[in-house]
Amino acid sequence: MLADLLPPGAVAVERRDDNDPAPLFPVEEAAVAGAVAKRRLEFATTRLCARDALALLGVPAVPLPRGPNGGPVWPPGIVGSLTHCAGYRAAAVARVTDVAGLGIDAEPDEPLPAGVLDLVADPAERAALPTGGPHWDRLLFCAKEALYKAWSPLTGRWLGFEEARVAFAADGTFSARVLVDGAGERTRFEGRWKAAPGLLIASVTVNLTG
Ligand SMILES: CC(C)(COP(=O)(O)OP(=O)(O)OC[C@H]1O[C@@H](n2cnc3c(N)ncnc32)[C@H](O)[C@@H]1OP(=O)(O)O)[C@@H](O)C(=O)NCCC(=O)NCCS
Repeated sequence: MLADLLPPGAVAVERRDDNDPAPLFPVEEAAVAGAVAKRRLEFATTRLCARDALALLGVPAVPLPRGPNGGPVWPPGIVGSLTHCAGYRAAAVARVTDVAGLGIDAEPDEPLPAGVLDLVADPAERAALPTGGPHWDRLLFCAKEALYKAWSPLTGRWLGFEEARVAFAADGTFSARVLVDGAGERTRFEGRWKAAPGLLIASVTVNLTG
């Protein structure tokens, strides 16, 4: 279902469990050395998704370590994003000749814990959230995390939840406006979202043309 949220040229691989053995390269092993088994499994399965997605682009299996800001280090010429939450792991990748940046995020379709929406959204964003259907507070959080995952590799900068505004349209898209400098003239980003039973996913694409 993630593929429906991606632009032409991007590919996705999703998994619902950690049942397939997913070997790691030594540099990846080092990233999760000492982590609890659950964290190691989700990390490994998500990298398996990433390697399978890269294979769809004809890119051989390579280590995908974590970079200084926490995001994956992709092979030259590739942009991409990873996500994992309970019962879902996914990777999306594209060639830089097709897409300038990608961010994906998955969340359980459940309300945010009490008080979190106030940290994630300003009063106008909260007031504009639609009603009915998915848990829109969680979807707003999901959309902003997808935005961050597209923004961070592009700029190398942190972005706080209060530094962007997200507005949902009725057609499964959303627009995100970043309130700080960092990506040149680029302050507006487009996203798409989808709900499956118990699950919300969001993507943000940075087009080559801005
Ligand atoms: C980094 C963050 C977005 C991850 O989201 P999450 O819902 O906790 O976790 P997910 O499973 O969806 O994503 C985790 C993956 O994100 C990726 N990631 C982490 N930091 C990243 C960064 N700076 N840039 C891009 N991707 C990043 C990693 O691949 C990570 O998986 P891995 O550690 O197994 O390799 C979140 O923890 C965070 O720090 N959010 C605060 C910043 C933010 O979202 N601001 C909103 C601005 S509007």
